Amino acid sequence: MFAIQNRLVGLGYASFLQSSSTRRAVAFLLRMALSLAVLLAATGCRLRPTPPHAAAQQRSARPAQAAPRAVAPLFEPWRAAQLLDVPSRDRWQQPARLVRALGLRRGETVADIGSGSGYLLPHLSRAVGPRGVVYAEEIQTDFLPALHRRARLLKNVRVVAGTAADPRLPRGRIGCFVLLTTYHEVQKPVEFLRTLRRLARPDAKLAIIDFDHGRRGNPPAPIGHEIAAATVIAEARAAGWRLHRKHEFLSSQFFLVFRL
Ligand SMILES: C[S@@+](CC[C@H](N)C(=O)[O-])C[C@H]1O[C@@H](n2cnc3c(N)ncnc32)[C@H](O)[C@@H]1O
Repeated sequence: MFAIQNRLVGLGYASFLQSSSTRRAVAFLLRMALSLAVLLAATGCRLRPTPPHAAAQQRSARPAQAAPRAVAPLFEPWRAAQLLDVPSRDRWQQPARLVRALGLRRGETVADIGSGSGYLLPHLSRAVGPRGVVYAEEIQTDFLPALHRRARLLKNVRVVAGTAADPRLPRGRIGCFVLLTTYHEVQKPVEFLRTLRRLARPDAKLAIIDFDHGRRGNPPAPIGHEIAAATVIAEARAAGWRLHRKHEFLSSQFFLVFRL
């Protein structure tokens, strides 16, 4: 504190500091400023500009509001063999545990939205059993041959070619929508989630699993293919879905379950 007083003197404030009552007042103000700085440091507050994603998270605390945001480009189908279907993915993606956590019932109807090459289909198919149905929905036609190949083997899988605005799924039958690493690519997210809400059964679940912006997980999120969980929660809320559960067992990804 004295060092700061000396610095004020050095800066030409000497005459102002000459009266003892002024010196006491300045000392008191400096003590208050010091205490405030210590308090801010202890509570983790930062006097830096808020980064854009943190700003989005703060905005997301407001009800039924979702700020516009960047949407990632579509995953290129030719990269599926290297990235989606590699056996090492199971180690971090934990597909069996992921599907168990969805709590699907035998005979239920589930939709894998943005199914890609169908990585999750064997697990979903097994969970709902022969009397259940899995819709493998995808908007990129280059993925359809791979999905049809899986469907021929799995029997209870039906392939659906949707569009970015319309997944072309039946209304009132689907009990669970799963978006695995798809949501960050959905072009009009709130409108899309509203469409899923209109298609859903009244007791339906919506599971959104994606690379979490800012999380230091293993593997790290592919650059540009990540989104803050808080943004997803705000957008889902704006579309009429309420957060029901968060699963925390995936290192790099959030796993959010919503209900109507
Ligand atoms: C990164 S891939 C993930 C594929 C698969 N879910 C997986 O985890 O292996 C994302 C997929 O979502 C699809 N996609 C993006 N927007 C979509 C939308 N609005 N409706 C359906 N699929 C979409 C893309 O075509 C792409 O195949």
